[in-house]
Amino acid sequence: MTSDTIIAFDLYGTLLSTASIATELATHFGDKKAESIAALWRRYQLEYTFRMVSMDTYKSFDKVTASSLDHALAEAQVTLSASDKAELLKAYDSLSIFPEVESTLRSLQKDSTIYACVFSNGTDAMVNSSVKKSPSLSPLSSVFKDLITVEEVKTYKPSPKVYHHLARKVGKSNSKEDMASMWLVSGNPFDIVGARAAGMNSAWVDRAGNGWLDRLGTIVGDGPTIVVKGIDEAVKEIKNRAAKNHS
Ligand code: 2OP
Repeated sequence: MTSDTIIAFDLYGTLLSTASIATELATHFGDKKAESIAALWRRYQLEYTFRMVSMDTYKSFDKVTASSLDHALAEAQVTLSASDKAELLKAYDSLSIFPEVESTLRSLQKDSTIYACVFSNGTDAMVNSSVKKSPSLSPLSSVFKDLITVEEVKTYKPSPKVYHHLARKVGKSNSKEDMASMWLVSGNPFDIVGARAAGMNSAWVDRAGNGWLDRLGTIVGDGPTIVVKGIDEAVKEIKNRAAKNHS
C-alpha cells in the first residue's frame, strides 16, 4: 500500500481532448454537422454505459464506442463506409492532451509524494493505446504508476464497484477512511458525483468555465470537493490540502 497522495486522472475529456474527432468527422461532413455528430456520439457512448450499468450487463467500451458512432450517424441521417468508421475509431489512438497537461505531468514526474494513475471506462487495450500512442501524452506516460480500467470489474462509472476497484488497485480498502484518502480528477460531472458518492474526494475540471450545473449531488452523494480550471490547479490544491493534513 502506498502512503502517497493518490490522484486518479480520468482519461477521455480530462487528460485527452476528443476535439480532434470532430476535425476527422469534418473531413466527411463539414464543420457544423461534424460537431453535432461528435456531440451525439459522445452522448450515446456515455448513455450506453449508464444503461448497461442499470441493466446489470457489460459490453466492452470499444464495442460501445463503435455502436454509439452508428447511432449518432443514423440520427444525423448520414452514412460512412466501414473503412471510414474504422479510421474514426483509430482517432482514439492519436488524441491530444489539453494545454496544461504537459507541464503538470512533467512536474509530477519529479514529485515522489504523489501516486498518479489513469482511471478510465476504456478497455485495457484501448486505454493503453490512447496513452502510449498519443503523440503528446506518450512521452509523459511514465508518470502513471498504473493505467486502471473498469474492464476487470465489467461495469462502468458511476457504479460504486468501479471506484472500489480503483481503491483495490492502489492498495486501499473500501473503508470510509481509505476512500476519502483518494482523489479523482475528472472533467465529467457524472464521474465526479459517482466518486463522491463512493466516498472519494474529487476535483472537477471546468474547462468551459460554466460552473457546476449538475444537481444530482444535491440529492445523492455530493458535488465536487473542488472546482478547478485545469489539472494544474487540481494538483496544486490537492497538494496544499495534503500538506495541511500532515502538518
Ligand atoms: C473515461 O475515460 C468517462 O471518458 C471517461 O472514463
